[in-house]
Amino acid sequence: MKTTHIGTDVREAARLLKSGALVAIPTETVYGLAANAFDLTAVADIFRAKNRPFFDPLILHVASVQKALDLFDHYPPLLSELAHTFWPGPLTLVAPKKTIVPDLITAGSALVAVRVPAHPLSLDLLSQLDFPLAAPSANPFGYVSPTTAQHVLDQLAGEIDYILDGGACQNGIESTIIGFSETEPQLWRLGSLTVESIESKLGCKLLHHLHNNSNPQAPGQLDKHYAPNTQLRLLSKEQIQSALSQISEESLAKIAFLAFGNSDLIPSFSNVFHLSPNGELPEAAHHLYALIRRVDTLGFEEMWIQKFETEGLGAALNDRLKRAAVL
Ligand code: TXA
Ligand code: MG
Repeated sequence: MKTTHIGTDVREAARLLKSGALVAIPTETVYGLAANAFDLTAVADIFRAKNRPFFDPLILHVASVQKALDLFDHYPPLLSELAHTFWPGPLTLVAPKKTIVPDLITAGSALVAVRVPAHPLSLDLLSQLDFPLAAPSANPFGYVSPTTAQHVLDQLAGEIDYILDGGACQNGIESTIIGFSETEPQLWRLGSLTVESIESKLGCKLLHHLHNNSNPQAPGQLDKHYAPNTQLRLLSKEQIQSALSQISEESLAKIAFLAFGNSDLIPSFSNVFHLSPNGELPEAAHHLYALIRRVDTLGFEEMWIQKFETEGLGAALNDRLKRAAVL
């Protein structure tokens, strides 16, 4: 067992990473579990600490657009346009890798996923390193991603050396992934950067090729993922109303309702937790994982949440909740 320290010492984090250690890093999306991407022993340690299967590839993080583009063997002009527009930011771009990128990172794929995170501490850290950081979300495989240093400590204490504390992650859900396995960009994972903002840059609709269990191009996107221990139910308003009409007081007491805005369903529940009292999607995304984690410790049998409208961040929120929900 290691002793896991939390702090804001970027130089210490850099020293540890250079020596092959694991360090959790803050990003604008979620905390990452980072290691030197060119140190295969350290990268293998990431998989071990997370209990992550080797078929699930890792995202590389670098300090600048140029360093990111340098990891690709080739890419269409559109990739570079998206990179310059949205980096640093919650967008991951996937394209053919240079041979220097280890196969362990890409799970044997010829493509590599790269992003420049928008967090001052991690950008400072990355600028002190002459290698990219491989960093999946810093949670045990299959659980909700961490959005605070404490979340990381709660689950990975003893597994890692240091947690660089950058406060609560601004966006709160993972980056959006765009794949360039073809010349046309494809949406591979919904995330913090909305489809609408990418499409307005592209000037056209984005092809959707979202990952699931039956899609071999998407090794990591399992249908069941991001799951808390308490059963989560993602329901339409009609489903909630119908369930409520038949429920006993005793059963109602075992349900936590995660409310968005001033929902008229709120008075029907005994246990209400607010994602965003004013009904703002960025605020709901910012709070979602922290609230799920908190409610998960309170001993409820179920968490209920109403499906979001699918505009903007609503689509990404529904995607994560669907994967966290009982099927
Ligand atoms: O916001 C984020 O993206 C966070 C922060 C830490 O950057 N990272 C994150 O990583 O969510 P992770 O490991 O939890 O999810 C990475 C996913 C993989 O499961 C896979 O779906 C996709 O990125 N991916 C990574 N490399 C890929 C590749 N070479 N080809 C296709 N998909 C890839
Ligand atoms: Mg993850």
